[in-house]
Amino acid sequence: MQPLLRSPQTASRACSPSPARCPWLLKPAALLPLLILLAACGRGAKDWPVYGGPDGTRYSALKQIHRGNVRQLQLAWSYDTNDGTGDPQTHPLVIDGVLYGITPRHKVIALDAATGKLLWQFDSGIAGRGPNRGLTYWRSGRQQRLFAAVQHYLYALDPSTGKPVPDFGSEGRIDLREGLSRPLAQVSIVLTTPGVLYKDLLIVGGRTPEALPAPPGDIRAYDVRTGRLRWSFHTIPRPGEFGYDTWPPDAWKYSGSANNWAGMVVDAKRGIVFAPTGSAAFDFYGGDRHGDNLFANTLLALDAATGKRIWHFQLVRHDIWDRDFPSPPVLVTVRHNGRRVDAVAQATKHGWLLLFDRATGRSLFPIEDRPFPPSTVPGERTSPTQPVPLKPEPFARQRLTEDMLSRRTPEIHQWALDRFRTFRSEGQYVPASLDLETVVFPGFDGGAEWGGQAFDPETGIFYVNSNDLAWTTGLVPHTGGWSARQLYLNKCALCHGDQLQGSPPTLPALTGLSKRRTRAEVETVIREGGGRMPAYKTLLNKTETQALIDYLMTGRDAKLPGGPPDPTRPPYRFTGYNRFLDPDGYPAVEPPWGTLNAINLNTGEYVWRKPFGEYPELAAQGRKDTGTENYGGPIVTAGGLLFIAATNFDRKFRAFDKQTGELLWETELPCAGNATPVTYEVRGRQYVVIYATGGKARAGEPKCGVYLAYALP
Ligand code: HEC
Repeated sequence: MQPLLRSPQTASRACSPSPARCPWLLKPAALLPLLILLAACGRGAKDWPVYGGPDGTRYSALKQIHRGNVRQLQLAWSYDTNDGTGDPQTHPLVIDGVLYGITPRHKVIALDAATGKLLWQFDSGIAGRGPNRGLTYWRSGRQQRLFAAVQHYLYALDPSTGKPVPDFGSEGRIDLREGLSRPLAQVSIVLTTPGVLYKDLLIVGGRTPEALPAPPGDIRAYDVRTGRLRWSFHTIPRPGEFGYDTWPPDAWKYSGSANNWAGMVVDAKRGIVFAPTGSAAFDFYGGDRHGDNLFANTLLALDAATGKRIWHFQLVRHDIWDRDFPSPPVLVTVRHNGRRVDAVAQATKHGWLLLFDRATGRSLFPIEDRPFPPSTVPGERTSPTQPVPLKPEPFARQRLTEDMLSRRTPEIHQWALDRFRTFRSEGQYVPASLDLETVVFPGFDGGAEWGGQAFDPETGIFYVNSNDLAWTTGLVPHTGGWSARQLYLNKCALCHGDQLQGSPPTLPALTGLSKRRTRAEVETVIREGGGRMPAYKTLLNKTETQALIDYLMTGRDAKLPGGPPDPTRPPYRFTGYNRFLDPDGYPAVEPPWGTLNAINLNTGEYVWRKPFGEYPELAAQGRKDTGTENYGGPIVTAGGLLFIAATNFDRKFRAFDKQTGELLWETELPCAGNATPVTYEVRGRQYVVIYATGGKARAGEPKCGVYLAYALP
């Protein structure tokens, strides 16, 4: 048994799923007959039972589909969820020939993984919106559970029927708003990425608002059988807790977020859960949270049994750039200085890859503390230095300069130059200012994103897809009397923009709203929120809500009584998530606008890199391979292949040679595959499934909600 454990290469070949699936692997003393073990693991290797695959590596030991035959892949089945459209981003699970997925409105579905036939559907009665990236499957003996989130509820379902398990929580569900030490009505939390398992614990984070009021981003562990809270780690420390002195004394009572929204991974052998966190709220101004703000923007290594901190690495001190950790960590084993090291790899929005010894938190490559300019915004205090990794090289460009501006036409180059000369562009960690727009490059959507990355234990190669666009941002003081427009600027402009322009496709424009929405619909959206939009039902009174609806539908700017209602509101507002696009809507920087990268983690060197995706209309004009924005991760297989969809505009699903990056197969999806695929085997046939949703499609591009399975003829 021991060799199986020591060499991840053999271990993953023999037993691809996580130790949760084959727990006896972790107990070499267990005297299970080898044959039973291999049979059980063999079955497991055919499944995809864990979100992100074994150890978060998105690796499969299957190799029926390989370099030599992948060109013959055909559509084997498809399942149209017929449940509207949305941005669910789901990476499904496959267990014993059943595929478990989620519909655009967050119904849970079980499909026959060989035919796509619907076996059951669970409708919670709540129409979910926005991301719902996957599920968690737990089994112990004959007991099994499928954990599914719908907004702030977490359900335990019976995987064979789709019915809630009555003895979990209250009639099969728990309410994640509870236990966060804030009034329930004020708590906005959604479990957008599924929890991870350690023994009989389900460990979850959650998405919380980017502006106050926001609950703290506590990381919590629940008993898988009862739903009872077993431990909770305060990411905004309370008096007496480590890190408390990195905030103002009362911040734990009013500040919020510093949450794990991107997912976690468990090292079952060591009993460590690795949880990366995001920024504290408000994302772009921290005058009410002076200090480094531990454990925001931090990779946490917690004792999975107790929630006690083992080590941590804070990526951004006092973040005012929304540089969340955007991806779940990946457990890897690498050869470093002649020694095998179990490490944890973590990608960032900056386009950096960090690699730490799992046990000690020591970085395998040097990280340097570098000085950055101070903020000029009154009340703001940024950290004088920030850590910067020196290796591997970033997988996205770091600083926008004039020579990088679009040369698509001479006019566009001139336009971009004129705009650019009004910006401040000095690379990472330049604080936003009140007088001019500051370039954020790569932009607020990375670099790396929520689809995660793949690691090949056979070769030590790590695969990361990346966005490579410049965005800009700024701050503006709140001025003038209190009116519907002021209220809009105070509460809504953060996402929908000063001029209602939004930042499509993620954040809709509100221009021309009266042409597509009734007042009642607008009121529902404002009250209930959806996607990244918070629910305002307890945050705005009736007069304010009606004045806002008036303003959005007719442009009328009614005066409002009193002043800004929220004493914790920042004195400044954010000018919006502004992509730096040219007048035709293409990035105003030169390509590549998106890339796919293969990095050898043993050396920290790139094996290959290439532009990823293209705009069909630009390709038709001869501008091929520009790369495009892409959302959704890769998977890597023992068949020598890297499968990834993700690209927004060409809507392709592709297979690359994992060693060379050569494109071997591609197919066009009905809408963009903004999700991470899975692969599995049923009755001797290997399938690759992608969930196409067009969740990140821009206006005019198709949206859908279809699971598509490909196999050899
Ligand atoms: C943190 C970001 C964020 C904030 C703040 C926010 N929204 Fe939204 N809003 C969104 C997102 C994302 C959607 C799309 C939701 C979906 O598709 O489910 C949306 C959708 C909407 C829509 C529907 C648009 C359509 O085309 O149908 C309206 C209306 C709206 N928001 C109004 C508001 C108002 C009014 C406020 C302030 C009180 C506000 N939003 C604050 C992110 C935000």
